[in-house]
Amino acid sequence: LTPRPELKCVRGLPLIKYFAENWEQVEKFQARPDDLLISTYPKAGTTWISEIVDQILNDGDIEKSKRDAIFIRVPFLEFAVPGVLKGTEQLAAMPPPRVIKTHLPVEFLPQSFWDKNCKMIYVARNAKDVAVSYYHFYQMAKVHPDPGTWEEFLQKYMDGKVSFGSWYDHVKGWWEKKKDYRILYLFYEDMKENPKHEIQKVMKFMEKDLGEEVLERIVRHTSFQVMKENSMANYGTIPTSIMDHSISPFMRKGIAGDWKNHFTVAQNEAFDADYAKKMGQTSLRFRTEV
Ligand code: PPS
Repeated sequence: LTPRPELKCVRGLPLIKYFAENWEQVEKFQARPDDLLISTYPKAGTTWISEIVDQILNDGDIEKSKRDAIFIRVPFLEFAVPGVLKGTEQLAAMPPPRVIKTHLPVEFLPQSFWDKNCKMIYVARNAKDVAVSYYHFYQMAKVHPDPGTWEEFLQKYMDGKVSFGSWYDHVKGWWEKKKDYRILYLFYEDMKENPKHEIQKVMKFMEKDLGEEVLERIVRHTSFQVMKENSMANYGTIPTSIMDHSISPFMRKGIAGDWKNHFTVAQNEAFDADYAKKMGQTSLRFRTEV
């Protein structure tokens, strides 16, 4: 692996170099009607919702959800790193029902997902916490370019010059699409505040009624504290040459509002002004307090 390769664009979308080089395979991916897609901008709670969905699929049998690492149970569609099975290859060999992870902006999703009218769960997290989480992730996951200083990274993030592009376009694009397709649109902050309520929504969307006891168990086993210690959920099995948890653990803090520990007053003001311009025209609203 080349250490810290620069991003490479696919039709204007900046991607991890290896992902961009595999784009043709992703574009022609054939979804099945019973596939369930989990879509997120990076660092929005992908692993959390993936674990929740897998536990629901397995009727709350925690041991079954420990059968393999989360990135095997829920393959990452556009994942491609030399020497490792690609997301598309994993999926080709996977029996239904498949749960699939993607970070693609809505207009980049392979057409077959729309044609097959697959169910999709989107999780959005507030822009500032995503920026902070992404900065730490860039540092520890070495398939990304060097993020530079926090100040430099924040500017790149605001300009959409990070892997998977603009957070603003991503959350808005998926929000608009939910009018016409089977998309459950969730918020990380709601999941933090009332996990039981949000997990209930997911169960209903998946047409599963597992009862109160199982629901409580899933809430417990998908809490940050439990997932952080679960080697099948915390990315701890990835070689340190790819992800170095000593730089920053994948399961870092798992809270809403950590941005307050990172943004300076000046950065926050500039961010808010830019945010208002980019998000002014949408009905999509994030809680302002976080
Ligand atoms: S990735 O690489 O895009 O798939 O990462 P993703 O899983 O989307 O985001 C990682 C952040 O989610 C936090 N996380 C959680 N928060 C609350 N509860 C649970 N169970 C949970 N699991 C993961 C994780 O800690 C990362 O956020 P930060 O803010 O960096 O801690």
